[in-house]
Amino acid sequence: MDTSQFISKPLDNLVENTRFTWQTPSNIALVKYWGKSNPQIPKNASISFTLKNCHTITTIDFQKKEKTDRVVFDLLFEGEKKEEFKPKIADFFLRIQEYCPYILEYNMRINSENSFPHSSGIASSASGLSAIAMCLMSLEKQLNTNLSDAFVIKKASFLARLGSGSASRSIEGPLVVWGNHPLIKGSSDLFGVQFPFKLHSVFENYQDTILLVDKGEKQVSSTIGHNLMHNHPFAENRFKQANENLSKITTILQEGDQKAFVNLVESEALTLHAMMLTSNPYFILMKPNTLEIINKIWAYREANNSAICFTLDAGANVHVLYPESEKLAVVAFIEKELSLFCQNNQFINDHVGLGALKH
Ligand code: DP6
Repeated sequence: MDTSQFISKPLDNLVENTRFTWQTPSNIALVKYWGKSNPQIPKNASISFTLKNCHTITTIDFQKKEKTDRVVFDLLFEGEKKEEFKPKIADFFLRIQEYCPYILEYNMRINSENSFPHSSGIASSASGLSAIAMCLMSLEKQLNTNLSDAFVIKKASFLARLGSGSASRSIEGPLVVWGNHPLIKGSSDLFGVQFPFKLHSVFENYQDTILLVDKGEKQVSSTIGHNLMHNHPFAENRFKQANENLSKITTILQEGDQKAFVNLVESEALTLHAMMLTSNPYFILMKPNTLEIINKIWAYREANNSAICFTLDAGANVHVLYPESEKLAVVAFIEKELSLFCQNNQFINDHVGLGALKH
């Protein structure tokens, strides 16, 4: 795969001091990415709704220094040094330094904050890594003003992917596809692209309420999780199914077929968990309350002829998806009947957003 377009040309006239702040969102996959090969190449294409309220805001202060062969940075989380987050970010910088050699000539002070509560079980890697990628691309654009905005977005997604696969889908919105797929023109395993077709109005401003069922540490890190797909007995069929589901959802999203959407999205969530149930070692990431919530959602859908559905990440929390037209009724249902199954009754109301925002 040709990655040479992403290698920055040697830049002179590096500025002494500069600083950028970006807000980038989390995203929720409808067709899931689960399984990858090196370097961060997905085994199948995936598609996600970009979120709005769940986001990270990151500022990077760049200060010019003598060139070294190692990236030098400080990492602060909400103003306080966070040594335990450093190795993941150091690995990320190591992976991207061939594409962004200028980072070896700066001291970087990274300060991040999340809009969602600490250890809420909401993955912060997608929003965290995409925010850093946008700050780096703002620096690159300042150093090389010839870069087009479209290239800046594309390379930011490319860099974010090298930090965390799903982060490649957190630069733009409302729907992003990552992974090469025959129906999505311009799609690539290297970066995310906007869903290229007109979205039916029923899917505009879709709502996502995240039910915080279990706020504990992740039981399975994403690296371990993706590795479980190597030698998994069902892996090849799963990758094929995901690509077929991406074809199907491409039609569903344009035609506004809500019944088919509900069916596909819930099946994807359960298949992701089925992959973990049938791996070796095996994991059960749902909690009893996850199942209680799923059953309540099914009963509500049946009784109210609703288009509500659920999806899951690699954890116990439940994302409740529903059209904006049902917002009042569904939020009341969540408050009354689903919040009881959340830790401290906590949930976050979110909706689809448009991606990275410069501060
Ligand atoms: C279940 O993007 O967290 O959320 O590339 O190892 O950082 P790494 O994995 P990550 O995996 C996300 C998996 C998922 C499904 C999805 O978002 O598509």
